[in-house]
Amino acid sequence: MAETPRPADPPAVRFEDASVQLGGRDVWSHVDLSIETGTFVAVLGPNGSGKSTLIKAVLGVLPLASGRVEVLGGPPGESGADIGYLPQRRSFDPSMRVRGMDVVRLGFDGDRWGVPLPWGSAHRARDARVDEVIDLVGAGAYATRPIGEVSGGEQQRLLIAQALVRNPRLLLLDEPLDSLDLPNQGAVAGLIADICRRFGITVLIVAHDVNPIATALDGVVYVARGRAVSGSPDDVITTETLSALYGTPIEVLTTSDGRRVVVGQPDASSHHVGAHGHRHDHP
Ligand SMILES: Nc1ncnc2c1ncn2[C@@H]1O[C@H](COP(=O)(O)OP(=O)(O)O)[C@@H](O)[C@H]1O
Ligand SMILES: [Mg+2]
Repeated sequence: MAETPRPADPPAVRFEDASVQLGGRDVWSHVDLSIETGTFVAVLGPNGSGKSTLIKAVLGVLPLASGRVEVLGGPPGESGADIGYLPQRRSFDPSMRVRGMDVVRLGFDGDRWGVPLPWGSAHRARDARVDEVIDLVGAGAYATRPIGEVSGGEQQRLLIAQALVRNPRLLLLDEPLDSLDLPNQGAVAGLIADICRRFGITVLIVAHDVNPIATALDGVVYVARGRAVSGSPDDVITTETLSALYGTPIEVLTTSDGRRVVVGQPDASSHHVGAHGHRHDHP
C-alpha cells in the first residue's frame, strides 16, 4: 500500500535562498531545501532556532523577507484544504466540555481556510469523514468524551484527526509529541508515520527528540544559528554536518540501542535528544 514518491512529482515543499525576519532580524536566511512528495521529514533544532517559523512560512502566514517558497507546486498560502496543520502547544483545560469528535469536526472550518456550512448530504459526508479519521487515529473509544477529560496522548490523536479531516496532501505538525511520555511518543509517532505511508501524505514534523521518530524518517531539516541544512538523517545527523551548522565542535554518538545522541550543542537546554541523552557521554 505504500505509495513511493514518483520521480515526476514536484517537491511538496521547496525553499530557495529563503529568509524570514521577525522583530527586525533574520530568524534564518539562505535556506535551500526540498521535501519530496510522500516523505516523512523531521524539523529539528534548538529552541528558538526557527522551526515553528519554518512551518509558518510553509503555511504562508509568515512572508519571506527574500527568496522563494513553493508549496504543493504553488505559492504558499494557496493550498487551503490540501494542508493539515497542528500548531505547537495546544492543550485543553480540564474543564473543557467540548467533545473530542466536535474538536475533530472543527478541522473543516474554524480557521482561516473556512468554507461555507454544508447542507444535507454534504453534512452527512462530513459526519462520515469525522468518524473515519477518528477510527484512523484509534480515538473511537473516547471521541464522545469531553476533550478536557482525556489524556494528553488521546488529545494529540484527536488533534491529528482534526488536521487530517479534509484529507490533506501535506501535514504540518509542530511538536505533536511534546508533553507526551515516551511510550505515547512512540505510539503517536508510529501512527503518523503509518498515515504518511498509507495515504502518500507528505509529513513535516517538528520534534524535540529525533529518536521516537527515527525509524520512520526519510529526511531531516536541521535548523540552527540562522541557517538550515536538510537531507537524509544519516547525512544530516552527523558530527561533521552539525559541527559545520553550529560552527562549533558537536559530537553525534549512537548508543548500543541505536539512539542518536548529540553532544556539545551550545544551548544545552534545547538539545533535540531524549530526556536521558545527556547521560550518554563521551565513550
Ligand atoms: N512575533 C515575533 N516577533 C519577534 N521575534 C519572534 C516572534 N516570534 C518568534 N520570534 C523569534 O523568532 C525565533 C524563532 O522562533 P520559533 O520559530 O518559534 O523557534 P522554534 O520553533 O525553533 O523554537 C525566536 O528567537 C523567537 O524569539
Ligand atoms: Mg516552535
